Amino acid sequence: MKHLIDPTDLTVEETQEIIDLALDIIANRAKYSEKCKGKKLATLFYEPSTRTRLSFTAAMMELGGNVLGFADAASSSVSKGETVRDTVRVVENFADIIAMRHHIEGAQLAATEVSRVPIINAGDGSHAHPTQTLTDLLTITRELGRLDNLTIGFCGDLRFGRTVHSLIKAMSRQKGIKIVLIAPPQLRLPDYIKQDVCDRLGLEYKEVDTLEEAMPELDVLYMTRVQKERFLDEDEYEAVKDSFVLDCDKMKLAKEKMAVLHPLPRVNEILEEVDADPRAAYFRQVENGKFVRMALISSLLDWKDDPKHEMPVEEEVEVPDNLRCENKKCITRNEKSPRRAYRASDGSLRCRYCDHKFK
Ligand code: CP
Repeated sequence: MKHLIDPTDLTVEETQEIIDLALDIIANRAKYSEKCKGKKLATLFYEPSTRTRLSFTAAMMELGGNVLGFADAASSSVSKGETVRDTVRVVENFADIIAMRHHIEGAQLAATEVSRVPIINAGDGSHAHPTQTLTDLLTITRELGRLDNLTIGFCGDLRFGRTVHSLIKAMSRQKGIKIVLIAPPQLRLPDYIKQDVCDRLGLEYKEVDTLEEAMPELDVLYMTRVQKERFLDEDEYEAVKDSFVLDCDKMKLAKEKMAVLHPLPRVNEILEEVDADPRAAYFRQVENGKFVRMALISSLLDWKDDPKHEMPVEEEVEVPDNLRCENKKCITRNEKSPRRAYRASDGSLRCRYCDHKFK
């Protein structure tokens, strides 16, 4: 059975299959109106969301299926202390597929260990957001006609931005990709992405200090919000919150054919004056999110019993008894959980649930 926890759970071919299916859904909406008739999607959202939860809901409705779930964990038995694994053991009796967002990193991977139905990661803490990545890939395809030979600028909160982490992983599997990282020192890309994705896979990247110096070479500018909710210290947030603001003057430095993406919500990192620029693709990106989630739900249900579409087999490394994951937001630090590890390219032991080191 195939779950989607990390973008690399899908092979490059499966990813392309989903994008192609989304393009066909866009061209032939009526053909898919009963594709998931009689099926149910559960949306379990332990963290706020507008786009992801509503687009999953709209996607299943447009496929002729039904949706149940919760948008606020406080209204579920989670508030009584029920674990993620137990919640999934319950919900799998009511639904054919589950989309889950959680502030605890690795919660969805833990869910796959007990689930009899496909689990989709709709965002786990600062870690990963693979359905946003599918949305981004479909948007880049529709805006620029290709996914290879692109220079992509990532701007803003590259430290906590799970959409950035997931998209870099996905783009590292395409040919001819260069990335430009634009972030204040406090919000730079985590080392595990630099080492295990960029360095190990030979993805060309550079770090620059200003948007102005990056703009002329970009095919895609991926703007992100500085995520107040991830900061432990409000002063630290205040110091960086307005580091980079995209306005019409900066857009004048960009190529005529380029695309500005943003997973949204925005705060003030893109001025509203940019919205009218034809290169501003972020509201078209939202609609693409619904189409690609239609393609994903449909594919995971079709693939459920197909041995060709299994999860990648990963080598597990034993964790010494005296070590634990360093990440306080990891599932292993918040619920009773086994410790699972892999060996990273720098030789360090990394947590399978959240990619942080053990200490
Ligand atoms: N892009 C995104 O994940 O938006 P929401 O938080 O509104 O779901």
